[in-house]
Amino acid sequence: MTQPLVIAVVGSGYVGLVSAACFAEIGHRVICVDNDEEKVRLLNDGGIPIHEEYLPEMLGRHRVGNIEFTTDLHGAIKQAQAVFIAVGTPQSDAGDADLSYVDAVATAIARSIDGYKVIVEKSTVPVYTNEWIRRILERNGASKEAFDVVSNPEFLREGTGVTDFLHPNRIVIGVESERAAKVMRQIYEPLTSGAYYDLPHAVPGSRSAASPPPLMKMSTKAAEMTKHATNAFLAMKISFINAVANLCDAAGVNVEEVAAGVGMDERIGPKFLRAGIGYGGSCFPKDVAAFRWVAEQLGHQFDLLAEVEKINCEQKKLFFRKIRSALWTLRGKRLAVFGLAFKGGTDDIRESPAIEIVQMLLKEGCCVNLFDPAAMERAKAILEPGSQVAYVSDIYEAAKGAHAALFLSDWQEFASVDLDRLRQELRHPIVIDGRNLFDPELMSGKGFTYVSVGRPSLAAGVKAPH
Ligand code: UGA
Repeated sequence: MTQPLVIAVVGSGYVGLVSAACFAEIGHRVICVDNDEEKVRLLNDGGIPIHEEYLPEMLGRHRVGNIEFTTDLHGAIKQAQAVFIAVGTPQSDAGDADLSYVDAVATAIARSIDGYKVIVEKSTVPVYTNEWIRRILERNGASKEAFDVVSNPEFLREGTGVTDFLHPNRIVIGVESERAAKVMRQIYEPLTSGAYYDLPHAVPGSRSAASPPPLMKMSTKAAEMTKHATNAFLAMKISFINAVANLCDAAGVNVEEVAAGVGMDERIGPKFLRAGIGYGGSCFPKDVAAFRWVAEQLGHQFDLLAEVEKINCEQKKLFFRKIRSALWTLRGKRLAVFGLAFKGGTDDIRESPAIEIVQMLLKEGCCVNLFDPAAMERAKAILEPGSQVAYVSDIYEAAKGAHAALFLSDWQEFASVDLDRLRQELRHPIVIDGRNLFDPELMSGKGFTYVSVGRPSLAAGVKAPH
């Protein structure tokens, strides 16, 4: 394998922590810096603040020797050849990305630089951020020759971040100098050469030594734009299929048949065409808004994205109306709610459509039994336990005596629930499914009144017409 580098990763959120663990996994020495002392202590004690597949094994493997956690940014920068900025870029009130954390880190880096370093922005940021980082570094005393700024956007999904990092579709690097490009190539060489995939402990995935990922070199601004355009396009795909699902509902057509037919066109592809209650999470809502803002700054109205947001917002309200029409009145009803995370496989509830829908139900006077395999602790801060809100420890306990069951996140274990037992536990056999986890005909055959998204609703015992 290639010569290992010393890499500092600033910020230990989802992106920073996964990237740090993966850099260690491919052979580099990593110093992970965060200003949250409690988080650093937890990581040093062997704890992991997020729910992410493969992360515990990988950190366990590399904690001694390859990766360290610290609050000492200055010390980390001094040792590192490359510094990755992976701090948060939350949405500001105006809709743009709040870059104050990036600014603060760039300022701190400038004060610690004592030799050539590659400064890499990994956080999702608007085009031109790269130039700003360069300017901030220079303003704070770093000489032009002491650094290059590179854009290396991530395309990690929460829950599968490790696999996405180690088995990427592509690695994008935005660079303006050959010197920086060389360092970036060296960092990713274990992946691009395919050498990593032959290691006995390699995390399995779609890539192999025979089909390693390509490294795409482009300008820094193009790399920044690629990240925003990718997320905006994916969000658009989801809103598009949700709009089609609403037509399917009205026309009595199954949206999954339509999505399968549309997705078979190689120019479109089958992924991200799952209709449901809309996209959420810490990325799509923020990035679509930020990309619109970028467009505005560049003198263009990207109205298409406004429509994407509008459809996404409407989707939750439409689903809420479905619940109401299945139950007639809501006040005093007790509902079993499955899923609080913004999608299955994560404990993240940021911008979760599930949370919003529960809030609408509470406002209408419903009581809810909440269950999520990973997100309940986080949810308690927003949906406080009380007379209307109960947290339970399994699916069947949630269903006990409930007037209906709602499925709001696509956890694998929900899709494999014992439907006969679910029906027995429920007061009424009504399932309202915001993630299309079940086959409508099967549900009807099992005696459920089953309502989903973009698929004809069937009363219990009715066969779908073909
Ligand atoms: C997303 C992108 O998929 C990553 O490539 C990107 O790196 C990341 O944002 C980021 O910018 O950091 P993530 O937010 O983890 O990743 O989640 P996704 O798996 O993309 O799902 C986003 C939302 O869309 C979820 O609420 C999900 O339930 C929903 N979704 C997804 C659908 O409703 N339908 C689909 O077909 C796919």
